[in-house]
Parts: sequence; C-alpha cells; structure tokens
Amino acid sequence: MNRRSILRITAALLLVLSATGSAAPREPVAAQQLPVFPAKTPPMGWNSWNTFGCDIAEATVRRAAAALVRSGMRDAGYRNVVVDDCWYEPQRDTAGNLRADRARFPSGMAALGDYLHSRGLRFGLYMSPNVRTCAQFTGAYPGSTGSGDRELGDARTFAAWGVDYLKYDWCHGAGSTRTARAASTTMRDALAATGRPITYSINPNSNFPGAPGETESWRGVAHLARSTEDIQPVWDTGHTNEHPMGVRNIIEVLSGLPDRPAPGYWNDPDMLEVGVHDVNGHPGLNHEEARTHLSMWAMFAAPLIAGNDPSRMSPADHDLLTNPEVLAVDQDPLGHAAHRVTGGDHQVWTRPLQQGTAVALYNRSDQPARISTTPAELRLPPGDHGIRNLWTGHHYRTTDPISADVPAHGTVLLRIDSARR
Ligand code: GAL
Repeated sequence: MNRRSILRITAALLLVLSATGSAAPREPVAAQQLPVFPAKTPPMGWNSWNTFGCDIAEATVRRAAAALVRSGMRDAGYRNVVVDDCWYEPQRDTAGNLRADRARFPSGMAALGDYLHSRGLRFGLYMSPNVRTCAQFTGAYPGSTGSGDRELGDARTFAAWGVDYLKYDWCHGAGSTRTARAASTTMRDALAATGRPITYSINPNSNFPGAPGETESWRGVAHLARSTEDIQPVWDTGHTNEHPMGVRNIIEVLSGLPDRPAPGYWNDPDMLEVGVHDVNGHPGLNHEEARTHLSMWAMFAAPLIAGNDPSRMSPADHDLLTNPEVLAVDQDPLGHAAHRVTGGDHQVWTRPLQQGTAVALYNRSDQPARISTTPAELRLPPGDHGIRNLWTGHHYRTTDPISADVPAHGTVLLRIDSARR
C-alpha cells in the first residue's frame, strides 16, 4: 500500500471515528489525534454571498482577497476565502465534470486557488448535495449542477483545484433529516478520500422542513453546521427559525442548541453582516448591533466568516472585525460555547476561557439599560476580580457586582481575568 492510500484511509477513518464519537459531546478531541482535521478553532474567513449574491466574478474575489491582505483581516485570522453560489457553468461538461463559469471566471478555479494560496489565503467553494444549488432551486441562476450522486468525482475536482474549504448547502424544500445526514456524510467521505484536508461546512437548515440545524447535532458529519436559517443585515425579523433572520433572532435560537461545540465541531449561526449595507433594501446593522453580532458570535465560538466588501470597509467596521481581544475569545483553544446565566431583555452570558472567563452583558431591548451580575452568579470564587472591557480596553478591579450601562441592542463584552481570595 503506498503512502497516499494510507493517508486516504487514515483520513476516512478519522472522520468516521469523529462521527461515532458523538456520544461524548463535552470532551474536546486532542489536536494531535486528528492530524488531518483542519478545524481546531472556529474557521474564519470571508464569503461572497452576503454582499455580492450571484453577482460574482474572479475579479470580485481577487479584489476582496487583496483587501483582506491589505487591511490586516487575513493576519487577524480571516483566511478562508469562500466563493459562494453561482460560480459554475449552468451545466456540467460532457464528461460530467463541474466547471467554472467561463465568462466570469475566465482563468478557471485552479488559477483562482493559486492566486489565493500565493497570498496566504485558503480557497473555499460552494456546492449542494441535491440536483440543484440553492440559486438554481430558487430560480435565481439557471441549470442544475448539484453534487447528488456525483460526490466522488466532484470532491476530486475540488481537490485538484486546490480547494481547502467546501460549503455544502442542502437548500431543498423536501427531504428528511436522515436523507440530509446521508447526503452530507457521503460528501464528507468523498472529501476524506481525496487525502486533502478540506474544511467541511454544511448547511442542513436552508429551505428544510423542520429546520434540523436547530434540533440535531451534526458533530462528526462536518466541521461546522448551520444552526439557523439565512441571516440578513437586520436586527429583528420576528422569525424564530425561518428565512430571513436577524441577529437578535439567531441569538434566541443559539441559547437552546442540542449540542455544544468543541475543537473539531462548531455550530454555525451564519456569516457576519458587519459592514453589509443596502442589501434587499436593508440599511444594515447599526454600530451597537454590529458589536452585539460579533460579541455574541465570539461567545458562541462561532465561525467568523465576514460577509462585507472588504475593499470598501469603513474604519469602524474594520476595528470591529479585527479587535484582537474579541477574536481571541472566539478562537479560545478550549472551544467552549457560552451559556446564558439570565434571560429576558437584559441578559448575562458566560464562557470559560483557557485563561479567565468571558462575560457578555447583552441588552436585547430597544432602551438603554444597566445590566449587572455577580461573581456568584458567574460561578466565580468570591474576592477581587480583574475586569477588562474588550471593546474599550478599560480595565479595573472589583470585589463588587459587575455592572455596565448597555445601549439598546448593544453588548458589553468583558473578560474576567483573575480572582484572588
Ligand atoms: C442559501 C445559504 C446561503 C447562500 C445561498 C446561496 O441556502 O443559506 O448562505 O449560500 O444559499 O444560494
């Protein structure tokens, strides 16, 4: 058996083992046990969909990639550049292979992958397990190129193009959780068989009756799985888990997810809307809402996939997206997600970190509020605590209740560094 075959079998086995390990959800898997597993912390990157929709071309992607590098976003961690729906010719070639849209991606996908790799970025692509992609299913794009029954060949194509990240989107109005799981698992195994470590992101939630992302764990099937329907750049659509959802609506769903993330598996509350404006008539999130979006995604150990146009980013959005202390909460090696300590309109959430504890004081209401908690409520020992506001850098010590004035729709994100008796 040659080295490549051994690698392939090892990759397939590791993924299968991680699938069967789902009975012990709280135990993070030690990184050294999963040498080919590329998602030890929540993946970060950029995706074309939230700003550009189907209106993409290789020039769009290269411009965004160049801006990620220039702006420092790449170095802050946003490395996966994911080309979402509508990148392909509406039909496969005569041999049944996927191919890039020749007018909009004239250099082809392998060349785009080379370009991204040469800039220290990873290359991501979108595809669907059914007959049609989501844009084809909704009629926004012609043809039918889904990977259903073509998983092995398509996975080989992706690997040959240098793809490092696959977003695999169910987007179908029919099916059961069982069929969605089987289809996602088939692609997982096809990716593993290529021997290339490809981050595998699934969306078992889109257009799906029963919204199984909310009720099922997909640990072992993929590195990240969408928990909620599609996000829009709005605060509140009034929806629980139906399309479209606002930031506030997604936070409600996340408080009750059936499985907790740990290194190797992440719940995906959808891509970031920070800096996304003028989409579908939405003006976008205000500054406080954008801060809540990032603060709470960091508390949940969520993948951070920027959805803005990085070549036209405001300084304020840049500072939100690249705040190193907030990103460090998201990427904390323990990989634990926050849990809610108090509910209602003025919420307190806590997340254990490798060093210290992150606390979010989240004001869901339309009025400013003072939100307070205590070391006891946070299960910290009594005594003197160092409190750092991660957005402002303000630092103080206290033995008293921890409180802050929180604007409407805003979040104060704190790290409690130490406690001395
Ligand atoms: C949706 C998915 C979006 C985007 C879109 C593309 O199902 O949730 O994130 O990928 O398909 O058509």
